[in-house]
Amino acid sequence: MAGKELNIADIRQDYRLSVLDENSVGEDPISFFQKWFTEAENAQVTEINAMTLATADGKGIPHARIVLLKGLDKSDFVFFTNYDSAKGNELGANPFAALVFFWKELERQVRIEGRIEKIAAADSDAYFQSRPVGSRIGAWASPQSQEITDRNILDLNYTKYENEFSQIEIPRPPHWGGYKVLPNHIEFWQGRSNRMHDRILFVRNETGAWTRARLAP
Ligand SMILES: Cc1cc2nc3c(=O)[nH]c(=O)nc-3n(C[C@H](O)[C@H](O)[C@H](O)COP(=O)(O)O)c2cc1C
Repeated sequence: MAGKELNIADIRQDYRLSVLDENSVGEDPISFFQKWFTEAENAQVTEINAMTLATADGKGIPHARIVLLKGLDKSDFVFFTNYDSAKGNELGANPFAALVFFWKELERQVRIEGRIEKIAAADSDAYFQSRPVGSRIGAWASPQSQEITDRNILDLNYTKYENEFSQIEIPRPPHWGGYKVLPNHIEFWQGRSNRMHDRILFVRNETGAWTRARLAP
């Protein structure tokens, strides 16, 4: 293609939209997360609930991918997936996870870390039944993370389960459901000029109380 050659090393952005200070953050990181989420919604950030989920397997090797936040269960961050997937196996071996949101339109990042648990089966059932029919059939048809010989396997599986469940309510597959991250670290990052960003970290102690600190960018 004609034109200037792309030099990745030259790509950079100066952040000037906003500032983050202790007064505006307050004492409760969950309320502040909800405030930022609403602001991101109002700013029409696309895929606002898409977050990077990092897990580590039994050998400590990290793995990361995007999943969708589907809500907060009190102060816990809930997403849904296949319990037999690679991430499901990693979480079985090492039940800790990290989540990262990047809301670039607002020059903001939120990092969340903590122990992970499966949510109650009844809550997974309720969410599963709220999904479109196609997604429910898809949860049966896709052996997530497993190697398949070709695309055709998926289409055959889909048709098989579509027929199987044509007359009955589609049950939640036993291998599919929700997890929640019980946060013990939540960091709010606001981009600032000259790489002098604002970082406010909350750490939860054994009693459940949050303490707040400012980190250097
Ligand atoms: C925008 C976006 C949203 C996604 N949401 C989910 C999700 O909520 N749950 C899920 O299991 N996979 C979701 N995925 C697919 C995952 O990134 C990943 O490919 C899949 O879960 C298999 O990961 P694993 O093999 O590490 O278990 C999403 C991908 C993208 C790009």
